[in-house]
Amino acid sequence: MNLCIVGTGYVGLVSAACFAEMGNNVCCVDVNPAVVERLNNGEVHIYEPGLEEMVARNRAEGRLAFTTTLAEGLKDAAVAFITVGTPSREDGSCDLCYVHQVARDIGQAMTEPLVVVDKSTVPVGTADQVREIIAEELSKRGASIDYDVVSNPEFLKEGDAVSDFMKPDRVILGTENENSAEIMRSLYSPFARSREKVMVMGVRSAEMTKYAANCILATKISFINEVSGICEKVGADVRDVRLGIGSDHRIGYHFIYPGVGYGGSCFPKDVKALINTAREVGHEPQLLAAVDEVNNRQKFAIAKKVESYFAQQGGLEGRTLALWGLAFKANTDDIREASSLETIKYLTAKGMRVKAFDPVAGPNTARELEGVQGLEIVDSQYEALNGADALAVVTEWNQFRNPDFGQIKNSLKAPLIFDGRNLYPPRDLAEAGFAYFCIGRPDPA
Ligand code: UDX
Repeated sequence: MNLCIVGTGYVGLVSAACFAEMGNNVCCVDVNPAVVERLNNGEVHIYEPGLEEMVARNRAEGRLAFTTTLAEGLKDAAVAFITVGTPSREDGSCDLCYVHQVARDIGQAMTEPLVVVDKSTVPVGTADQVREIIAEELSKRGASIDYDVVSNPEFLKEGDAVSDFMKPDRVILGTENENSAEIMRSLYSPFARSREKVMVMGVRSAEMTKYAANCILATKISFINEVSGICEKVGADVRDVRLGIGSDHRIGYHFIYPGVGYGGSCFPKDVKALINTAREVGHEPQLLAAVDEVNNRQKFAIAKKVESYFAQQGGLEGRTLALWGLAFKANTDDIREASSLETIKYLTAKGMRVKAFDPVAGPNTARELEGVQGLEIVDSQYEALNGADALAVVTEWNQFRNPDFGQIKNSLKAPLIFDGRNLYPPRDLAEAGFAYFCIGRPDPA
């Protein structure tokens, strides 16, 4: 099938590469000439395991192309995907200006019947708006061309995006039109091998499904983080509690790891956007508001523990913290809504120096925190330790899981670790002479 994908960000590029991998001809359109030029030179501007090879292979075999011209992308296309950004506004609502612009452009440029697919995460009702905008543009130029607008939200996770796309748990298709449902089913049949995995429903239900999915996952994380805060106060260990509750198959072990709060491009934005949608329609979303609040507090968990530890030792002024991890989670260079940023800003504002290391997210952090006094980003995890007063871990990169504790002890001024991801066995660390502060366990005396 010939496909056009508008927007070569995370979702767009991964979708394009994976559709091409299954033998479709995909033309990606992006308004940014620099991005298109880089992609045409074989450079992938996103860090995602397996993506660069897949893009290169499909380009070489002629199934994947990049352009800045929508008319070129739409030539012979049966389906056009809208995968542009939907940034948050100040009030938490979703800014749809890019989606609306693409809808206008499609209405002006399309010449053949087309299935237009909303793949960006968009508030309920957006597909209807896209449909109206295209209708307006067609009528302005007196054209009568068949089209449908389908909602097809994407569920991929950063770091696992290619495998999530290639082997989805489910494919959600929101449409009332049997013909577009068939086109979309055949496009996805190589990915979702059993037919039950492809779920066709109303457009608004599909749009709502995406928000409900991300919000229940965010709720699980805020729930366990809330429980972890209580555990610290009552002398329980959240790691045991997680195992204890997870063994009930109705609860399960997954996605209830306590930590430094959820970050990234989806959960924080989508929880806020659903809160906003609910309020717009007169429903006060009490649970979601609490999920968001708990998360905002949790992002400071490590900074607060460091602050209260040093409060008894003369304060943070003149102290240095070695920080391992900047990305919002492992296997990505994405720092959007990362706890590391809040940790750094909070502690440096109070006079602490931070020497930070991340395997890939250093350059993004340097750009984001340009001008923050007291932050130094270094090239190795052990270099960060030299002369520091303590180590704090905020991202669960594998290379932090089994470090050389002897070297850590020798490099730090005192054997002191703050662990925002519960990577280490507390008993082993205590035996090795460390004061070890983690999440959801009473702090050492
Ligand atoms: C998420 C959804 O998983 C995905 O389906 C959706 O399409 C986009 O949003 P992503 O943002 O890539 O994907 O990251 P994910 O792996 O889900 O982690 C989100 C955040 O939650 C991270 O900050 C992670 O550290 C945190 N998290 C996750 C926890 O704190 N505890 C957990 O048990 C799981």
